[in-house]
Amino acid sequence: MKIFVTRKIPGDLEPLKNGNEVITSEFDRPLTAEELIEKAKGADGLLSLLNDKIDGDVMDAIGPQLKVIANYAVGFDNINIAEATDRGIVVTNTPCVEVDEAVAEHTWALVLSLSRRIVEADEATRRGAYKGWEPDMFLGMSLIGKTLGIVGFGGIGAMVARRAEGYNMNILYTKRTKDEKSVDLDTLLQQSDVVTLHVPLTDETRHMINKESLAKMKKGSFLVNTARGSVVDEHDLVNSLRDGHLAGAALDVFDNEPNIDPELIGMPNVITTPHIASATHEAREAMAKLAVGGILDTLSSKEPVNIVNKEVWMNRRK
Ligand code: GLV
Ligand code: GLV
Repeated sequence: MKIFVTRKIPGDLEPLKNGNEVITSEFDRPLTAEELIEKAKGADGLLSLLNDKIDGDVMDAIGPQLKVIANYAVGFDNINIAEATDRGIVVTNTPCVEVDEAVAEHTWALVLSLSRRIVEADEATRRGAYKGWEPDMFLGMSLIGKTLGIVGFGGIGAMVARRAEGYNMNILYTKRTKDEKSVDLDTLLQQSDVVTLHVPLTDETRHMINKESLAKMKKGSFLVNTARGSVVDEHDLVNSLRDGHLAGAALDVFDNEPNIDPELIGMPNVITTPHIASATHEAREAMAKLAVGGILDTLSSKEPVNIVNKEVWMNRRK
């Protein structure tokens, strides 16, 4: 079988070989749509990254032998799942404790950096602005007793919550399948001092944080996004920060990556990281293992544990 890997990735891909012809893109950059089609043509399995856009046309161009797409990410909004299912193509992703922990840790790094103004303070120190201790220098917000609002309580959201206990914060969360402790989004926005996003990007969540929802947030509160950029309307966020309604935002993901609103980048109370929340050695290795497993399992007719479109299994391409 032919397997195409759209970019060289950290983690062990050796097990993929196992009788298969494995071809990895020679470019150390994302492929253009044309390059992806050209190189992947004839592949039975595709190992894709979150910045590869894969819709039905791309699947058809790769050919009728394409059986599985293993996305090297937890999120799979870059793949048209309905069109994959229609074609009998299995899609897998890489949810695992290593990724959940890495993203939860990065989320907390951002929460603390925001509440204690670490990036601003570091910048000032480096530029020589620290002339001696001052009583009112870089005052932040203590987290103890404050409320953390977790939007989306899946694997990652739950791990973010667990870490909040150590800071003695109150927790509110929203959950797609509601439970006795979950609240609605409006309540969460109105009562939280820090709101952190952990929902996948779907038609329902696209721009769910917009002018109206930002206005419901407490004045002086913070927003953290390590989910997907398009969950937030970046333009509305800029306005809310400019008006001083939100006290700050920390963003690992952006609406139109890798482009970021220049005004956002220029704000001292905004922290940006380049989509690295899951970028630990441990998480990347686990992701590779899951992606490899998704491809090998599918090609040997074993339902992968990490299948995204379970409904395809009985009608999958063989
Ligand atoms: C990273 O953004 C992922 O979805 O794994
Ligand atoms: C601060 O450094 C203090 O000693 O209060």
